[in-house]
Amino acid sequence: MAPPSLLLHYSQRRLSHSTRGGFFFVPTTLALLTSLLILFYLFTTSNIFFLHYRRPTLTLEMPKLLSSGVARRSSPVSPDGGAAAGSSPGEESPGAAGRPAVAGGSGGRGVNAGQRGSGDRFGPSGNHVNNNDVYHNRDVFEKDYREMNRSFKIYVYPHRRDDPFANVLLPVTFEPGGNYASESYFKKSLMKSHFITKDPTEADLFFMPFSIARLRHDPRVGVAGIQDYVRDYVLNITRRYPYWNRTGGADHFYVACHSISRSAMDKASEVKMNAIQVVCSSSYFLPGYITHKDASLPQVWPRQGDPSNIISSKRNKLAFFAGGINSPVREKLVKAWRNDSEIFAHYGRLTTPYSDELLGSKFCLHVKGFEVNTARIADSLYYGCVPVIIANHYDLPFADILNWKSFSVVVATLDIPLLKRILKGVSSDKFSMFQSNVMKVRKHFQWHPSPVDYDAFCMVMYELWLRRSTIRVPLTASFGSN
Ligand SMILES: *[C@@H]1O[C@H](CO)[C@@H](O)[C@H](O)[C@H]1NC(C)=O
Ligand SMILES: *[C@@H]1O[C@H](CO)[C@@H](O)[C@H](O)[C@H]1NC(C)=O
Ligand SMILES: *[C@@H]1O[C@H](CO)[C@@H](O)[C@H](O)[C@H]1NC(C)=O
Ligand SMILES: *[C@@H]1O[C@H](CO)[C@@H](O)[C@H](O)[C@H]1NC(C)=O
Repeated sequence: MAPPSLLLHYSQRRLSHSTRGGFFFVPTTLALLTSLLILFYLFTTSNIFFLHYRRPTLTLEMPKLLSSGVARRSSPVSPDGGAAAGSSPGEESPGAAGRPAVAGGSGGRGVNAGQRGSGDRFGPSGNHVNNNDVYHNRDVFEKDYREMNRSFKIYVYPHRRDDPFANVLLPVTFEPGGNYASESYFKKSLMKSHFITKDPTEADLFFMPFSIARLRHDPRVGVAGIQDYVRDYVLNITRRYPYWNRTGGADHFYVACHSISRSAMDKASEVKMNAIQVVCSSSYFLPGYITHKDASLPQVWPRQGDPSNIISSKRNKLAFFAGGINSPVREKLVKAWRNDSEIFAHYGRLTTPYSDELLGSKFCLHVKGFEVNTARIADSLYYGCVPVIIANHYDLPFADILNWKSFSVVVATLDIPLLKRILKGVSSDKFSMFQSNVMKVRKHFQWHPSPVDYDAFCMVMYELWLRRSTIRVPLTASFGSN
C-alpha cells in the first residue's frame, strides 16, 4: 500500500532531521496509519467507495452472448397445487438464552467464496465475469456425484427400538416440519438410502445419530443437559467400538440444524475438533464451527411440490423481507428501509400471505437474525425469488459445489444503506440470469420423503463424500490396550 510507506518514509526523514520532532511525529504517524488501515478495511469490505464510481458500468458487464443463452425457464415445473406455505417468519429461532448474539453490526468480509455486493467489482478484466454456471465445475461435480452415489458407505451406530433414548437416536416416524426439519429429514433419508452399510469395515464414515433438536425437547435432558449427553454418548461409543480411536473421530459425523448445537460439543471437544459437523449455524465467526472440515446444512422449511405460478407470477416489488427484529442487522435494515416504496421490510405479523410476497418480489432478503442461518434462502428459492444474503460470515450451504454468485446477491451489513442502489444496479440481463439459475438450484434445497437424486439429502452426502478421506491408524494390540 503506497500511502503508508510514503508516510513512514517522510516521518523517518523528519525524524533524522530533528529528534525533537519525533515526539510529535511518531504518535501522529501512528494515528494516520491507523486511519488509513481503517479506510483500507472499509475499502475492501464495503461497496461504499465503488458504487459511486463504478455504477455506470454495472449494467454493461454482462456479455450479450451469455445473456442471450440464458433460458427463462430451465427446469420443468409441475403444475402441482401451490403448496400452502407455512409462514416461516412466524417461527423464529428462539436462539439460546444466555449466549450473546454474534455482533454483526459492522462490516466484515463478504460471505463465502469471496463474492461481494453486486459481484462485479472486478469488471470486464476480472475472473468474476463469465462465471454464470450454477456449479463451480459441472463436469467434476457430475462425475464425482456418480462415483459418490455408487461407492459411498455410511455406518450408523445402531440403537434398539427399546433404547430409552430411541426418540433422540432413531429417525422420527412422522414427516418433519418447521424451521429445523433439515436435521430430521437427513436422518430419515439416510436410513432409507443405499448409502447405509451394516458392515463397519466397508464404511467410509460413521454417523452418530443423536438429534440435538430432540434432546432439547426431551425433559430428561433439556437445553442444560445436551452437553453432558453428547459427552457420554461419545465416551460410550469410544469404549464399545474400535472405530473412533482409529482416527480420533475424523471419520465420524453428526447433523444438527438447531442453533443450540453451536455449544453442544463444548464438553466433547474432540468432536468439535475432529469430527465432521454438518450444521445449519455455519459461520466463520463461531468458534465451534471449523470451515472446510465442517459442512453447512441448508435450513429449509419443507414444502412439497412446486408453486403453480412460480414462472408466471408478476414480480412488481423490488425486494421483500419479513421477520422478527431480533438482531442489530435486522434493526439496521428496518431503520433504513421501512418506509420505502420499493424495498419492503416488514416486521411483526404480515397481513398478506408470505407466499404471495415471495412470488411478487424480484429479490428476497435473507437477513441475519440470532444466527446467520434462517430458512429464508430456501424459501426464496422455492418461490423463484432471487436471494439477497445479508449475513456476514455465513458459510453458505453447498459452497463447495454451487457458485453462489450466479444465483444470489451477497450484501455486507455495512452496505444496507446502499441496498437499493445495489439491487437497481443489477441489469435486466443479469437478473434473468439470476432467475433462471434460481430455477436450476432450487432442487438442491428440497427434502423428500424418500431421497431423490440431487436433492438436499444427496447434496449433503456429496459434501460428506468430499470430506471422507482419513488416515486410519491400525489398532495393534498394544495401541488398543492402551
Ligand atoms: C444413484 O443411485 C441410485 C441407487 O443405486 C440410482 O437409482 C440412481 O440412478 C443413481 N443416480 C445417479 C445420478 O447415478
Ligand atoms: C452410555 O452407556 C451407559 C451404560 O450402558 C448408559 O446407561 C447411558 O445411557 C449411555 N449414555 C449415552 C448418552 O448414550
Ligand atoms: C479408545 O481410547 C480411549 C481413551 O484412550 C479408551 O478409554 C478406550 O477404551 C479405547 N477404546 C477401545 C475400544 O479400545
Ligand atoms: C418512517 O415513517 C415513520 C412514521 O411515519 C417516521 O417516524 C420515520 O422517521 C420514517 N423513517 C424513515 C427511515 O424515513
